[in-house]
Amino acid sequence: MANNKKTLAQQADKYAMYLDSVQDPGHEVDFLNKAFKHAYGRRAEGLREDFCGTYAVCCEWVKSKKRHHAIGVDIDPEPLAWGKRNNESALKQTQVKRLTLLQDDVRNVAGPKADVIAAQNFSFWFFKTRDELRTYFRAAHANLKDQGVLVTDMMGGPQTFEEGRKERRRKKGFTYVWEQARFDPITHDILCHIHFEFKDGSRLKRAFTYAWRLWSIPEVRELMDEAGFTQTHVYWEGTDPDTGEGDNRYRRRKHAPCDPAWISYVVGVK
Ligand SMILES: C[S@@+](CC[C@H](N)C(=O)[O-])C[C@H]1O[C@@H](n2cnc3c(N)ncnc32)[C@H](O)[C@@H]1O
Repeated sequence: MANNKKTLAQQADKYAMYLDSVQDPGHEVDFLNKAFKHAYGRRAEGLREDFCGTYAVCCEWVKSKKRHHAIGVDIDPEPLAWGKRNNESALKQTQVKRLTLLQDDVRNVAGPKADVIAAQNFSFWFFKTRDELRTYFRAAHANLKDQGVLVTDMMGGPQTFEEGRKERRRKKGFTYVWEQARFDPITHDILCHIHFEFKDGSRLKRAFTYAWRLWSIPEVRELMDEAGFTQTHVYWEGTDPDTGEGDNRYRRRKHAPCDPAWISYVVGVK
């Protein structure tokens, strides 16, 4: 079929749209640097990005400083291959030399040890029991140098309990749709989908599906403690006084207001 006969959905690249919709590698790298510097008062050099997908954060990390090196780990060859074609190919050879990719389960890959381990976009929520999550946190603890931080992100608030809730965001050339399809209050199983919609009326339904457990911040902090982290910190998003929306700036907080839909970082310090 000629390209002009294809719908926009048929021509679309789901990984490019995912990157455009839910990732901001520059912001992530800034936050990873900040979390390590807060903990140890010096700069991090080695990053391990667990659940790295298309390893956009690894690429940004090695690009941002000559001393930076990164390891990305993901179980799925498809996003890794996309990352090689699209993210890694934009790097200089000197930057590519400081990058290592491994296709494996994050719980199986031991060393080389990192200053920072990033587990982003709620990926550790694939682990649904306390034992599974503690096992992952123990593995992450072991994969950090003597001084190291594990940086995770979390979402929550009353809106995350709403079944069938859809949030739409217009992007250039498509609309990003986040759907919370199911939430089970007994198990805290949460099923979410990402769909993409196009102006010709075509759709990429369920481009990505996540069957997670909706963990709470205190549960995650307790499991990090049990896994050996000596401190845990919550970095809560500030509020823009003009819009009342999140300002994308995260600071350590001990308490927070009951926001209907929040995102935060939970950092374990070795
Ligand atoms: C939500 S995506 C996150 C991608 C990227 N880190 C981000 O921030 O957008 C989750 C990724 O975790 C990977 N994954 C799921 N379980 C895994 C496991 N046990 N070990 C390694 N990767 C896993 C999936 O293949 C997928 O690429």
